[in-house]
Amino acid sequence: MKAVININGRDRELSFEPHENLLEVLRRYGYSSIRKGCDTTSCSVCTILIDDKPVHSCSYLVARAEGHKITTVEGVEGEAEKIANLLIDEGVDQCGYCSPGFVMTLMGLKNELKNPTDEEILDYFMGNLCRCTGYVGQLTAIKKYLEVK
Ligand code: FES
Ligand code: FES
Repeated sequence: MKAVININGRDRELSFEPHENLLEVLRRYGYSSIRKGCDTTSCSVCTILIDDKPVHSCSYLVARAEGHKITTVEGVEGEAEKIANLLIDEGVDQCGYCSPGFVMTLMGLKNELKNPTDEEILDYFMGNLCRCTGYVGQLTAIKKYLEVK
């Protein structure tokens, strides 16, 4: 199968099998920021944005993506760097494996919720399983990025 899909602001023609998901196919096309962290759709490591909302790329068929706008970390490197620096400032050293999913989720939150409460932020990040570096520093960095008190 083939489909033209807008990825990071550019239309690309992708070839794929009917059963393939975005995680597999986008990685094959060089979007290596997207990672696989589980087989059960439960870790959020593979998160990308579809039409500015976070989606698990491991469970989204490529065929469904035609006509939608996809964003990966490769398309938002400046924002990703800003988020990484805010995390580092709070002593939160997210590893390179889970960071892309974290960044995409945070950007989705920024698109969807204005002035979220702590509870709303924690709820939004419920699916991001990595808490290797704890919760408090992450939450502080997230709020600095969102510019909420
Ligand atoms: S790889 Fe774990 S939710 Fe997609
Ligand atoms: S899995 Fe990356 S810091 Fe925990």
